[in-house]
Amino acid sequence: MAKLLGILTGGGDSPGLNAVIRAATKTANKHGYEMIGFLDGYSGVVENRYIKLDSPNISGLLHRGGTILGTNNRSNPFNYAVEVDGKTEFRDLSDQAVENLKKLGIEVLLIVGGDGTLAGGCEFKKKGVKLIAIPKTIDNDLKATDQTFGFDTAVRTATEALDKLHTTAESHHRVMVLELMGRYAGWISLYSGLAGGADVILIPEIPWKLDSIIKKIESRRAEGKPFSIVVVSEGVRSPEGKLVVKRQVEGSVEKNRLGGIGQLVGQLIEEKSGIETRVTVLGHIQRGGSPSSYDRILATQFGTTAAELAVKGIHGVMVCLKGNRITHVPIEEAVGEPRTIPLDHQLLHTARSIGISFGE
Ligand code: F6P
Repeated sequence: MAKLLGILTGGGDSPGLNAVIRAATKTANKHGYEMIGFLDGYSGVVENRYIKLDSPNISGLLHRGGTILGTNNRSNPFNYAVEVDGKTEFRDLSDQAVENLKKLGIEVLLIVGGDGTLAGGCEFKKKGVKLIAIPKTIDNDLKATDQTFGFDTAVRTATEALDKLHTTAESHHRVMVLELMGRYAGWISLYSGLAGGADVILIPEIPWKLDSIIKKIESRRAEGKPFSIVVVSEGVRSPEGKLVVKRQVEGSVEKNRLGGIGQLVGQLIEEKSGIETRVTVLGHIQRGGSPSSYDRILATQFGTTAAELAVKGIHGVMVCLKGNRITHVPIEEAVGEPRTIPLDHQLLHTARSIGISFGE
């Protein structure tokens, strides 16, 4: 019987997922392993839904966004939604998932995901499942890796959006607010705000005051620049210190879906300054499209390394980027608290040096 590896993509989609699938499958095949891909994240393992990945179906994947396997940021095998008499109940179906993996003869399961997927991975590891995690998220908020794939593309997309917003800001002498994703970490906002020439960047790591934002906008006016660009990370709290939550998703490891703080900040700026203000929420555009070259390369490195480790019999780890090198750490090191921006991060200093306000 052929030696077999499995792969699944979990959590929100992120540019580069298909590049990982392609690289891991090619590497596995090179070492005499076959690869099967579970559909829709952990759901595919619980429900035994999968496809065989081979040369024809991994062809043309490198530049494609999304994931050919489908994904899911709701399904948690340890708290799995099932329909009982027309009602949704949540059950622990993790043993069923383990049984399915055993029956198929999967030696090692590659899980490509963010903190929710990896937290599930830690629980499966305790049940004796051999797995290797591959870190993915546009938010770049996973511990134990310097960067996740998808982040670079999201920053590129957000930067392009800022370039476009500049046109209207400048022409209409307006304040343009852009709300960006990133959950409880401000990485996308900091990077794209710097690259896109934002005047104010609000991130969850730094508490803000309306007066400071107004001061910055007015000082620009006084210098003959009657427009301003304000980036607001979705995890920024309201002036009362509350998270602004758009919806809650039952069954998801992280229930809260953030959204709406940009609107609030825009409204407050307009009320206080009297300057016409418009708000744009970039939303899922940040997760879409073709991965940047950087993300294609990082995803390919992660995919090949994960498959090579599996072939060598190493498991229970997450592949990661440290400096310029791809290495691995115990999977547990990556889960728990998100990796937020340290307050002494050099880019905060760079931004302040060129006059960007964090609303402090
Ligand atoms: O983690 C990726 C991410 O896009 C976050 O930046 C965002 O808060 C969340 O997922 C949105 O999730 P959903 O696709 O369920 O709305």
